[in-house]
Amino acid sequence: MDKIVIEGGLPLNGEVKISGAKNAALPILAATLLAPGVHRLANVPPLADIRTTKRLLGLMGLQFEDGEPLLVDSTHLTGWMAPYETVKTMRAAVLVLGPLVARARQASVSLPGGCAIGARPIDQHLKGLEAMGVKITLNQGYVEAKAKRLHGAEITLDTPTVTGTENLMMAAVLADGTTRIHNAAQEPEVMDLARFLTVMGAKIEGIGTDVLTIHGVPELQPATYTIMPDRIEAGTYLAAAAITKGQVTITNAPVAHLSAVLEKFHEAGVRLSATESSITVHAGGNLTGVDIRTHPYPGFPTDMQAQFMALMSVARGASVITETIFENRFMHVSELKRLGADITVTGNLAVVRGRRQLQGAPVMATDLRASASLVVAGLAAAGTTEVLRVYHLDRGYAQLVEKLAALGARIKRVAA
Ligand code: EPZ
Repeated sequence: MDKIVIEGGLPLNGEVKISGAKNAALPILAATLLAPGVHRLANVPPLADIRTTKRLLGLMGLQFEDGEPLLVDSTHLTGWMAPYETVKTMRAAVLVLGPLVARARQASVSLPGGCAIGARPIDQHLKGLEAMGVKITLNQGYVEAKAKRLHGAEITLDTPTVTGTENLMMAAVLADGTTRIHNAAQEPEVMDLARFLTVMGAKIEGIGTDVLTIHGVPELQPATYTIMPDRIEAGTYLAAAAITKGQVTITNAPVAHLSAVLEKFHEAGVRLSATESSITVHAGGNLTGVDIRTHPYPGFPTDMQAQFMALMSVARGASVITETIFENRFMHVSELKRLGADITVTGNLAVVRGRRQLQGAPVMATDLRASASLVVAGLAAAGTTEVLRVYHLDRGYAQLVEKLAALGARIKRVAA
């Protein structure tokens, strides 16, 4: 298992281009199941989770031609199973459930087990599919879904689940009649999927609101689409620039989708300027502790909580960080404390007391965003930081080491 070795304490300077959004590309790849033919997807990020999804769809008969754009040929559907081996490494594999029942009227998808950050059940996905006429049975750890035909339904989600909203939207686009999803997730990535489905011929109203109205159509067409930029990758580089007190311009950034994040960086004393598609962090701000509370979009994203905590660990004063989305998303705390951070956790609340300087040390990545926070902290820590188990990072960050090295970081990847 590789590790990343960082000599911290150097300010980052220069320009970094943001890649396509992982959490938009994953549902959009699944959505190609809905229409036989050749889809053309541009700006698909070169990530481990994307490769895993292509392998999974390949098992079902889809074919791919790598390049820019990525060509996805979904003409021949020969299978409808997402095996445990795949789902246990990537929960987003459950996103094939909705499109498979819509196209093939059946699916056999492994129930995702728990994961490092929480139980993450899919009860809302299943409740919505049953409302549309899908018969769901659980058999030896698999969700067996069957439907003679899908019909429209009125669905109110208990919680605005992102992939739950996406699964139900993908099932509804080919159902007979109209489906309304209340308390729908409003994340930009959900909007990107909705726009892709619309290009395929779907009839969706309320995109970007918490009520999605989908009028089913008899069939959809393959589409050409460009994946939106990744707001969480952008926020991660913001944190890296701010913690090292550098001057960095982040280009191809989805600035409009980062309001809550930019607001908190500004409150913390980070000097920022932005255009429609780029953000510049200016050197020289004095970091002060600010409180954050994660919340579904447009609130502060849970996927930025760990990275922001790393920044707060060297800010002046205290910061209270409340995680309201996942029940166990503080796995990075004990690792940040190995670097000298002063953090106290009580339930879903972490109190960070800023230190003048962190000290490098070997630390362990536990999940995707926790590992990003350890890299951010290591960039500022004095001495050497080694981040182990970097396969977590490969799932969500394209060319992280290369991009940071190009900004002047003393960072390398070492086969361990
Ligand atoms: C998506 O996960 C993202 N993944 C996550 O990003 C992100 O952290 C999360 O949304 C929240 O924004 C993808 O889009 C592939 P949820 P998802 O369903 O859809 C509970 C990353 O780092 N819930 O919105 O799995 C659940 O337990 C990843 O890129 C139910 O109770 O998240 C959680 O507490 C990590 N029942 C809350 O809702 C359900 O049926 C939010 O989960 C579904 C969810």
